[in-house]
Amino acid sequence: MCCDSRMCGIFGCVLKEGNAAPIIHAALKRLEYRGYDSVGEATIDDGEIYIKKDRGMIDEVHKIKNLDDLPGNIGIGHTRWATHGAPLEVNAHPHMDCTGQIAVIHNGIIENFEELKQELENNGHFFKSKTDTEVIPHLIEHSLEINPSISLADAVLETVKKLNGSYAIAVISTREPDKIVCARNESPLVVGVNEKAVYFASDIPAFLPVTNKAVIVDDGELVTLSLDGYEIKKIADSSIVTREPKVIDWAPEMAVKQGYPHFMLKEIHEQPECLRNTLRLQDHYLDLMATFLDRAREVYLVACGTSYHACLAASYMFSKLAFLATYPVVASEFVEQHGKSVNIDSTILAVSQSGETADTLASIHAARQRAATVLGLTNVIGSTLTRVSRVYISQQSGPEIGVAATKTFTSQLSVMAQVALKLAKKRGKVSQDEMDYLAERLDKMPETVDTIIRTQEEKVKQIAKKYKDAKVFFFLGRGISTATAYEGRLKLMEIAYVPAIAFPAGESKHGPISLVEPGFPVVFVCPKDDTRKTLIGNIMEMKARGASIIAVVEEGDEEVKRLADDFIEVSKGIPDVLSPISYVIPLQLLAYYIALERGYNPDTPRNLAKSVTVK
Ligand code: F6R
Repeated sequence: MCCDSRMCGIFGCVLKEGNAAPIIHAALKRLEYRGYDSVGEATIDDGEIYIKKDRGMIDEVHKIKNLDDLPGNIGIGHTRWATHGAPLEVNAHPHMDCTGQIAVIHNGIIENFEELKQELENNGHFFKSKTDTEVIPHLIEHSLEINPSISLADAVLETVKKLNGSYAIAVISTREPDKIVCARNESPLVVGVNEKAVYFASDIPAFLPVTNKAVIVDDGELVTLSLDGYEIKKIADSSIVTREPKVIDWAPEMAVKQGYPHFMLKEIHEQPECLRNTLRLQDHYLDLMATFLDRAREVYLVACGTSYHACLAASYMFSKLAFLATYPVVASEFVEQHGKSVNIDSTILAVSQSGETADTLASIHAARQRAATVLGLTNVIGSTLTRVSRVYISQQSGPEIGVAATKTFTSQLSVMAQVALKLAKKRGKVSQDEMDYLAERLDKMPETVDTIIRTQEEKVKQIAKKYKDAKVFFFLGRGISTATAYEGRLKLMEIAYVPAIAFPAGESKHGPISLVEPGFPVVFVCPKDDTRKTLIGNIMEMKARGASIIAVVEEGDEEVKRLADDFIEVSKGIPDVLSPISYVIPLQLLAYYIALERGYNPDTPRNLAKSVTVK
């Protein structure tokens, strides 16, 4: 796979005069704020394609290869965030066909690339990389071979009709050296225009310093850029679309956050898309991971912070679906607690967004020394975790810039739910009907999360206003919702600096309830699952002591809504094992808006930083 729809940056231009390469280089730099692992450019001059690409940050690659000296007034460029296929020169974009006449960049995931690649290889095509993208230039080459009289745009049109998945692509070819052909499905694509040039990009900031006139390309559209400007067509029926540019009035600071005031809010809103990408993971990786877990005598789920909370929720999934006991362990405790008992029969599933968190790596190191099997789930392919894992899976969420992890939690859980389902199937523990139902609900999760954000955000804002001055919060849940409660509490503490306590609701009467006095805010995570009845008992206990109840409830749960002082509703019918993916959303928003109400910048919590890959 290449990258998901927010993971890679793409840019290109057709200039009336001058060289495209330095313009492309500067634009890619403007996209690099997300952090990338490879970069590449291709231009056309005098009937030839020129390419430079390599792994590394743009400045590193530029120092060695000079990204500015490619000739020609037309070109394309790409910054890559690998999700599969290591960050290596051969996997960097652009990718070419066999003849070297077609160069392609792509942002997205082609789901059916393995079948397409097989077919093309059977027809004599030779592949160099491990990316899904490389099928695209070969498919275009194939179309032009079969029907040499068609235009480049028509060959691209035929090609994209064969692709399943998400893409924003840009194609240049020596056959029509004055054009760039782009197409879009579920990955962002915008065109920019001024009197000197026409541009395309994945994100407006790429061209904002040179023009603020932008045309948003929609899904299912193909655009041809040339010195005459741009022409948009519908992929389905080739009909022409007329769309005038709009003036974008974002300040540069807003532009990198795509119009959101903070990265954290942008990333909260990105979750439906990230979840969609987790559902595009290749089956055989999930299967392989499930096979390793199936064989293990004991399984530890090891992580820190938010990733640990994802592990805690996953331990319920593995237990309930696959009847597999797993031990979620905070990485900083792993060596002390289990270092001496792990052995060749132990399996450690290490979960880390960055793949570089020191405590997680130390746990893995200790486990490997005792011959345990290490598996990884991470967002950064090429990170230490991917290098030391027997099998790793990408969480597919794209660079996370906000220090507070949000999309990490939901993406990791979607991946682990899929692994748990695979394992359940292997072990024959869940009926086919139930499996189908769970798979269907997981498929709908992007939509569900989108609905929650759309319908509840305003409400959460009001609740944040009401409770902004609270000195302390409780977050309570039962069963798998305990993990959701822990995560809600972590978000509030780390960005709004409000002391907060989370624990399984059943523990209330064993001590913490003594803290409660009138007006004390208690957040209950209350899905309509088997824990609801007992949880209502806990709500009553808190109410009896004058607590203010904020409940995250299933839509239409009138009984709990009546008991609560404030409530936030989550869509109906979410199975308990999947509930943290949706019930955490209101808690992320609550933390974000309370931080704003209290005058803090949620993107820069004090004393905290994010781990990054050390190259
Ligand atoms: C919380 C947060 C941290 C990280 C933790 C682990 O919002 O961001 O708690 O979750 O530092 O980081 P990774 O997942 O990179 O190992």
